[in-house]
Amino acid sequence: MTVSMLDLKGNRNALLAASILSADPLAIRSSIASLCCEADWIHVDVMDGHFVPNLSYGPMTVKALRRDFEDAFIDVHLMVEPAADFLEMFIAFRPDVLTVHVEAARNIHRTLQVIREAGVTPGIAINPGTPVSAVEPVLHMVGLVLVMTVNPGFGGQKFLPETMYKIKSLVRSRAVHSLDFLIESDGGVNSETARIIVSSGCDVLVAGSAIFDHCDPAEAARGIKRSSNAEWRT
Ligand code: DX5
Ligand code: ZN
Repeated sequence: MTVSMLDLKGNRNALLAASILSADPLAIRSSIASLCCEADWIHVDVMDGHFVPNLSYGPMTVKALRRDFEDAFIDVHLMVEPAADFLEMFIAFRPDVLTVHVEAARNIHRTLQVIREAGVTPGIAINPGTPVSAVEPVLHMVGLVLVMTVNPGFGGQKFLPETMYKIKSLVRSRAVHSLDFLIESDGGVNSETARIIVSSGCDVLVAGSAIFDHCDPAEAARGIKRSSNAEWRT
């Protein structure tokens, strides 16, 4: 499966990616199942304790997700350095999107090429301190640009509104160069910040703690979608 703006044609709404980083690690399967049809994508955060000061999931988690949720859209966010050393082990389990950080790649062009040539949609991520200009030379190669709206490494942090100008700038670049990547926002997303993010032009919202720390995750996901839908491309 590939991903692009074309997939959103006729879809009035921003997509919601549920980040399992905040799910109970002993109950990921049932946490995902409890979301039923509320989340569009499953977002898997991979951390190496080096690029970010935390450890999380690895390729075996992606393998098990693909096994148990065959038709799910699996969005893998690699926070590992150097990114190139870890590609094959994730590509083997066929994620729908494999995103690498521009800050974690020695040769970002080659890294994206490897992902694309393996038939997986490449994504590129930028930290809050990284400008959009760092990814402009490779925007034509990606299906997704992930804008970190907190510093990567942990769930439950406070949304950084100063990152919104980057989403607006990506929307402009996409139009100017007739590209079709999706723009994803990751960190601090809840039903309040979703409005601001979607009105800036974002296509995909990643939410972890706002969904899984809620007593009713499906209702929390519906709440985020309700408020983002109200802002979608108005
Ligand atoms: C942070 C991760 C996020 C994280 C977001 O480094 O990339 O995907 O799960 O968590 P919340 O939604 O709690 O900010
Ligand atoms: Zn993430």
